[in-house]
Amino acid sequence: MPEHIESICAESAPPPCSIVIFGASGDLASRKLFPALFRLFERDLLPEKFLFIGFARTEMTAEAFRDRIMAALKLAGINAPRKFMDFFLSSVEYVNGAYDSPESYKKIEVLLAKFEEGVNSAGRLFYFSTPPNLFSQILKLLESENLVREDYDGIPWRRVVVEKPFGRDLESANELERELGITLKERQIYRIDHYLGKETIQNILMLRFANSVFEPIWNNRFIESVQITAAETVGIEHRAGYFEKTGLLRDMFQNHMLQLLSLVAMEPPSSFDADRIRDEKAKLLNSLRPFPTNPSSLSNLIVRAQYGKGMLEGRKTPAYAEENGVAENSMTETYVAAKFHVDNWRWNGTHFYVRSGKRLAKRISEVAIKFRRIPHSIFGNLNSYNISQNELVLTIQPDEGFSMKINAKKPGSKFCMGGVEMDFKYSDLGGPGADAYERLLIDCMLGDGTLFIRKDSIELSWALLDPVLKIWENPENLKSNPIFLYEAGSEGPVESSIVFGTNSDSWRKLKV
Ligand SMILES: NC(=O)c1ccc[n+]([C@@H]2O[C@H](COP(=O)([O-])OP(=O)(O)OC[C@H]3O[C@@H](n4cnc5c(N)ncnc54)[C@H](OP(=O)(O)O)[C@@H]3O)[C@@H](O)[C@H]2O)c1
Repeated sequence: MPEHIESICAESAPPPCSIVIFGASGDLASRKLFPALFRLFERDLLPEKFLFIGFARTEMTAEAFRDRIMAALKLAGINAPRKFMDFFLSSVEYVNGAYDSPESYKKIEVLLAKFEEGVNSAGRLFYFSTPPNLFSQILKLLESENLVREDYDGIPWRRVVVEKPFGRDLESANELERELGITLKERQIYRIDHYLGKETIQNILMLRFANSVFEPIWNNRFIESVQITAAETVGIEHRAGYFEKTGLLRDMFQNHMLQLLSLVAMEPPSSFDADRIRDEKAKLLNSLRPFPTNPSSLSNLIVRAQYGKGMLEGRKTPAYAEENGVAENSMTETYVAAKFHVDNWRWNGTHFYVRSGKRLAKRISEVAIKFRRIPHSIFGNLNSYNISQNELVLTIQPDEGFSMKINAKKPGSKFCMGGVEMDFKYSDLGGPGADAYERLLIDCMLGDGTLFIRKDSIELSWALLDPVLKIWENPENLKSNPIFLYEAGSEGPVESSIVFGTNSDSWRKLKV
């Protein structure tokens, strides 16, 4: 590989900085953030000097917090030598207190100031890993206690990582943005959607814009349809409280699915700069045709459903309504399938189908691009309708990679045609690569916002989905927009094919 390309690929540790995690006693911190930080440390990708402070109401000593981190690392399958773990833990502190008490923030400031005294610290990262209703409280005190204020040139930097959900509709998202905007400049806000940190999502950009073969055919002339799927076999696990109030449309579509759609369909950005990419994503979201506000027209374009009882991996699984913490007559959807229209020159006439659901037959996330039929067949009795359409499938998880389905001559004396798949597994390149949280945490420390969501994208996604939520949440519309039932472990509700209308499309099989 040429030297200048290798230098782009070289991973480097950020300069000294501190990280404060609010809600450090919680699920996300234990399952994702501690392991990600430790793995970065293992790979020499944490700053040479860093301070990591956990903050929460739970009373415990710094020592007990370090033990908690050790336990979380073990659970994540990390078994590093004790001496090495101790080295990592020597940079860890814990502060307990109330989120609304200035005293708590004074304690944090003392630790930060002590660390910064001895090193040339580049900045402070505040990670909001609490329920969203605490964000504005934490922000107010960070501001009043002067922990987060940045000079006009942003040196040293002060950054805030905000976890999804980014509001629950357009109004609450705007309110959250207003609160963030009072204290912070846009460059200080890192809205995280861990999905975007996955290597294969980033590979969509490489595939599209580092190869000359795809871009000329990446349009309505050559592509008949795009199917985006994010299917899970798990149900709601222990998150009934959260999911009951959220539902799948908010949980998956507002962020992951629309972000994925915009990466697949956006125009080429002028550079790999964070804002140039985010400009194009926002332009694409702006080109999505609004859903109809008339309930009966809406029901042809978007379908909701809930899982019933079923069998998964040889085990009986309960219906959603029987899960702990779920109301018996819950109207929360666990599956959504929708058709989107991209109203621009590139895509007019190409169908975009998007679906996501829980407790389905297989865990898989993929983007399947189906090319148009050949215009004319020269193969005797085979007319173009008998010849399979080419398909490019980008698999995001598991088995990350992509495959291209093409037609070829079967070996033998006869002139027979067969489908072959050219398969590329990301792991062949030496994968699996960094976990999404590792990648995103290091990007925050380095100030690279490419994989984070900008304010305009959040607004545009909610503006698109708000009318759907309004119709769905009105019980009077249950007749025109029912919640269908599907068996756990199945391909999803049969009614999901409503979105194809009169087209001869069908959903790709999850389990082949
Ligand atoms: N867990 C995930 O997989 C996941 C995935 C994507 C996004 N997120 C988002 O990440 C954030 C953190 O998620 P999480 O699952 O870690 O949340 P969590 O476990 O419910 O909460 C994190 C911590 O916040 C504090 N807390 C919880 N409820 C509180 C309340 N009502 N008042 C004051 N403090 C409270 C608790 O610590 P103390 O009581 O000790 O202060 C708790 O340990 C949330 O915004 C969530 O939506 C989570």
